[in-house]
Parts: sequence; structure tokens; C-alpha cells
Amino acid sequence: MTEFGIYVHWPFCASKCPYCDFNSHVRAGGIDEARFLAAYQRELAHWAALRGKATVHSVFFGGGTPSLMSATTVGTVIDTIARHWRMAPHAEVTLEANPSSVEAARFRDYRAAGVNRVSLGVQSFDDAQLKSLGRLHSASEAKAGIAVARETFERFSFDLIYARPRQTPQDWRRELGQALSLVGRHLSLYQLTIEPETPFAQLHAAGKLAVPDPDAALALYEITQEMTEQAGLPAYEISNHAAPGEESRHNLLYWRYGEYVGVGAGAHGRLVLDGQRHAIATERQPERWLERVEKTGHGAVEITQLSEAEQADEALLMGLRLAEGLDLDRLAAIGGLTPAAQRIDELIGLGLLEWCGPRRLRAARDGRFVLNEVVLQVASALEPARRPARVG
Ligand SMILES: C[S@@+](CC[C@H](N)C(=O)[O-])C[C@H]1O[C@@H](n2cnc3c(N)ncnc32)[C@H](O)[C@@H]1O
Ligand code: SF4
Repeated sequence: MTEFGIYVHWPFCASKCPYCDFNSHVRAGGIDEARFLAAYQRELAHWAALRGKATVHSVFFGGGTPSLMSATTVGTVIDTIARHWRMAPHAEVTLEANPSSVEAARFRDYRAAGVNRVSLGVQSFDDAQLKSLGRLHSASEAKAGIAVARETFERFSFDLIYARPRQTPQDWRRELGQALSLVGRHLSLYQLTIEPETPFAQLHAAGKLAVPDPDAALALYEITQEMTEQAGLPAYEISNHAAPGEESRHNLLYWRYGEYVGVGAGAHGRLVLDGQRHAIATERQPERWLERVEKTGHGAVEITQLSEAEQADEALLMGLRLAEGLDLDRLAAIGGLTPAAQRIDELIGLGLLEWCGPRRLRAARDGRFVLNEVVLQVASALEPARRPARVG
């Protein structure tokens, strides 16, 4: 049985970071939060009526910067979800937060509203680096935010961005060591990606922002694996680390190809409607999303029924990222397809794939850096799942 979750997207930030291509916008004139709340409620009612009964295992407030929402708004969204669906006992309710003092001051109220996990966007513990990443918080605010998260929530995580311009292995060892001295039982460590059409992409194209070359990035990645494993927080996905059992349930729901409703501007969903899995994409521009929801009850701009082959491709893309790997029996149950044994053997031979259980495959170390290519290779060799796949 796969899990069911709800993703709520808050599409606003206090300022736009120059590396970020998330659907996040700055509104100097303020935001009509009550109007957005009413729209979330309408969208949730819409999807609940279409999807029908289900048990919610996780709710994730992502952004943007959802910690700019008031606790009342967050609480009302949680209550609305709980009115439409059954909340599983111990359902995970995560809120992404920026570690500014103003936002940390709201943590207790978020807890009272039903949030039981926060994920803080720390990015770096170095003030100069934070400045060049365009962050509004300082390193000491980040540490204070982590301390408040630790006091308030039993479960918390924070994000760092590494493989930054001119970052040496020594720099990263020092910074990661600091992170590990402050960490809870979950940590996200992302390599800086130069996203198209961001200010960082322009600087990069102009030769003004040099990121580590693939060998240097690999060295930083290996330091990351070594230090997090020693600290008892091994990677359970390419960029996500946790003590065993402390993985983010919401993250796992995505990567295990579970089912989720997405509400808010730009949110995506994967929903089983009339027995068929659908991909749902929502209007990205916040004000247009609002108008659409007010007019039609939802902000979806694309609702696409996924073919079995498309579902298999998506399940591969998600599952191969995981340390636990992709369950080939589950893949066969999703789309009736399995990768040809010969192609698997070839990719294993090239050091791109590996077995991690009798019927489980995952990206091997080298494959994690070219995951899209590996997925393409596996996806192009899918065949009807008649016989059990060969086991290495
Ligand atoms: C939606 S943001 C998290 C919440 C909050 N807005 C913040 O930035 O603190 C999700 C995370 O994605 C990561 N991220 C965003 N853009 C990135 C990029 N270009 N390269 C690597 N990591 C990135 C950051 O670590 C960020 O914390
Ligand atoms: S990284 Fe976070 S705070 Fe910065 S623009 Fe993106 S979503 Fe907003």
C-alpha cells in the first residue's frame, strides 16, 4: 500500500535568492493572506470531493517561505485537511522555515497549530557566504533558529548548500562538522545547482561565478558521505540524510511514488482518480492561481492521465535516488513493466546501477551524478514483466 499526503505551496518570500528557481515571488505591497487561505480551503474541498476517502500520512508546507504565513492560517489549513480526510495517527506535518528571528518566534504557535516538524533553510554557517547567497539571515541567527527548532519540535531538519564557488574540501569539512554538531536526526545537503534564468546563471555565463568542476564536486560529495555516515546520518536519498527511522515521511512518499494532492500556486499532484493515476499541475502565478480557484474551485491547469509507461518512468526517476532502491515488484505492479536484464547488467558493469536487495535496484555512486541519463537508459529498456528479473 502506498502512502497519501498533501503538499501546500506558499509562493512568497521576503526576497528572492539569486540561485533559486522555485516558484517564489516577492510582494512589496503585502499579501492578502485571508484570501489565499480561503482559496486553499476551496482547492482542498475540490480535490477531496474528486479523490474521495483516504488516510493522510503527511502534510508538507513548502515554498517559497511558508514560515511567512501566520500560525492561524497554517492551523486552519491543517484543520481543513483533517475535515476532508482521516489523519493517520502520528501523521507528519512539516513546515519549511527561514531561520530569521521573527520566524523562529512563531515556532511555538506553529506547533500549537498542528505542525510537528520544521525544515530550516540554513544554507551556510558563514556570514560572507550567506551574503553572497543573498540570504537575509546571519550565521548566528541560523544557530539560534536551530536552537528554537530543537526546543520546540521533537523532529527538525535543516538544509545546507555546498559545492559553492571557491569552497575547498577543508572549508566544507569545517562547515559540515559545525552542522553535525547542531543537527537533529535529519539533514539535507544540496550541491549548488546553477538553475537557468537565475541571476547566478547570468553570473556563471559571464565567467563571474565559478562552481567546482565535476572532480572537485565529487570530492565534496565523498566528504559528505563519509562525515554523515560517521555521525549516524547516512544518505537515504542523494541529498537527504537521516538516522534510521527518521527519514522525512513526505520525502519518502514522493520517492516511493505515493499519492499526493498539491494545493497552492505551482503545486504538483499525483492522484488516483477513477482508478487511474493522474499528474496535476497548477497555475504558477499566485494572483492568477487565486482568481482561477475563486472562479472554478481549483487552480489546476493540466490534469493528465498517465500511461503505464509514463508511470514506470516516473517511478524509476524517483526510486533510483533512494538508498533503499527501487522495488522491481512495485514497478511491475505500477506499470506492468520491468527493465530488461541485459540493460541492467550493462549499467551495473558501467558502475551506474547496483543491486541493493534481491529485487531492488539503485543508482550506484557514479550513476547518482548522471541520474537522468541512467533513468533514460533503464526506461528505454522496459519490457512486459512476465518473468522475474534476474538478480545479481
Ligand atoms: C524551498 S527552499 C527552503 C525553504 C526556504 N525558502 C529557504 O530557502 O530557507 C528549499 C531548499 O532548496 C535548496 N535550494 C534551492 N535552490 C537551490 C539551488 N539552486 N541549488 C542547490 N540547492 C538549492 C535550499 O537549500 C533550500 O533550503
Ligand atoms: S531559496 Fe527559499 S528563501 Fe530563497 S528565494 Fe528560494 S524559496 Fe525563497
